[in-house]
Amino acid sequence: MAIEVRAEAKRDYAKELKTKFRAHNAVVAVVGIGYVGLPLAVEKAKVGFPVIGLDRNEERVAMVNRGENYIRDVKDEELKKVVLGGKLRTSTDFSELGNADVVIICVPTPLTVHREPDLQYIENVSGEIAEHLRPGQLISLESTTYPGTTEEVILPKLAATGLEVGNDFFLVHSPERVDPGNKRYTTQNTNKLVGGVTQSCTDVAAAFYGETIIKVIRCSSPAVAEMAKVFENTYRAVNIALVNEMALLCDRMEISVWEMLDAAFTKPFGIQPFYPGPGVGGHCIPVDPFYLAWKAREYDFSTRFIELAGEINLSMPYFVVQKAERILGLQGKSLRGSKVLVLGVTYKEDLPDMRESPALKVIQLLIKEGCEVEYYDPYVPSIEVQLQNQGTYEGKQSLRLDSIPDSGAERAGSADLVVILTGHSCVDYGLIVQAARAVLDTRNATSSVDVSMGRAWAL
Ligand SMILES: NC(=O)c1ccc[n+]([C@@H]2O[C@H](COP(=O)([O-])OP(=O)(O)OC[C@H]3O[C@@H](n4cnc5c(N)ncnc54)[C@H](O)[C@@H]3O)[C@@H](O)[C@H]2O)c1
Repeated sequence: MAIEVRAEAKRDYAKELKTKFRAHNAVVAVVGIGYVGLPLAVEKAKVGFPVIGLDRNEERVAMVNRGENYIRDVKDEELKKVVLGGKLRTSTDFSELGNADVVIICVPTPLTVHREPDLQYIENVSGEIAEHLRPGQLISLESTTYPGTTEEVILPKLAATGLEVGNDFFLVHSPERVDPGNKRYTTQNTNKLVGGVTQSCTDVAAAFYGETIIKVIRCSSPAVAEMAKVFENTYRAVNIALVNEMALLCDRMEISVWEMLDAAFTKPFGIQPFYPGPGVGGHCIPVDPFYLAWKAREYDFSTRFIELAGEINLSMPYFVVQKAERILGLQGKSLRGSKVLVLGVTYKEDLPDMRESPALKVIQLLIKEGCEVEYYDPYVPSIEVQLQNQGTYEGKQSLRLDSIPDSGAERAGSADLVVILTGHSCVDYGLIVQAARAVLDTRNATSSVDVSMGRAWAL
């Protein structure tokens, strides 16, 4: 008797996933519901995908489940709507990963104290995903990282389960490019890069992102997408360093760097606006280029532009303090004992984000030189300044400062110097310049104010 051997047809997981994407009923797990993850979770839930946000931070998880928002780029009413509508819920239970069709990783990628990549968050999450991996899942790493992470750090953990990448599960890098606070470019209209471990990984991910994002661009590997993202941030860091260097030179030559840049940027081609400031901040620009510099060393390659840009950008807080000293000197005063009012401490205007803010360094240095520092920032009620062997605060490692209640003329008038470190649009700079004895403006926030009385100095 002939025995009929029929090979069981292998399931086409790519096809099954694409069908679910089109119907918007694929379950999406977003791991890490911070600046990147929460807007993404809301975006997907808004168009009908059932979304589960996973995070280790119990407070954030509880807040989202109550419909409470903590990220400025997310609209309160939109978050409430998707939570109440049952489209978005959050949890600290990582076994939920097994229920997801798509897992998007949005965890932090900081530097260690030695300025090397700290991949502990990606490693932890990859371990959790591997534990719950099942056939038919798309895994997308959106965190910014050095080229090679997806294939060298994540893939080995997932492949060790015995499941096959490109057939059983799909793995891509698709970097988040969001610019917090940017009203013109949102997740939806910012081109999305997708680089898969295999062609089918890229296809599946492109089908997923194509449901909510206008344009998806395919890269031939995760490494290309990873490199493109760190290059973008390196490009900004280097160009900011270039204008910062121009600011240092213009100061010496007594040319207004702001007027010079405004003039230069009138050229309609071949140049792009970047502006100087008291240093660089945020989670990306001061961090990401060093991910690339670290990886380059593995190839006996020294990324000299990155190192030089880092050096110039890190020197800016010191320059601000030097200039403050000079301005006080014009009034016959020194830094020691002078009252300095700092306006704006976040790294970017009109945002409550303090990450890597250069204001902390400037304030630390002012305190070190013996200034009495107050600050005003409507977005930041208090800050913790690390101290460096200061006489007056001896014995303390750090000093907590609370924002003064308003930026009114009275406080500005009683300071020897007002230093604008971030130009929040809600502050009346005309009033400040009128009331203050001297103003050092590192952001050109007073550009539209009549400064003919000679009390304001630009960077
Ligand atoms: N903020 C930006 O503007 C921006 C823009 C583009 C890319 N990125 C990149 O996106 C990534 C995330 O940045 P972010 O700004 O959203 O960070 P974030 O700190 O705002 O949020 C990260 C979240 O991950 C959570 N988390 C940490 N470890 C976890 C773990 N093991 N499991 C689950 N959750 C965990 C944290 O509790 C936090 O809620 C980083 O790689 C960053 O470089 C950020």
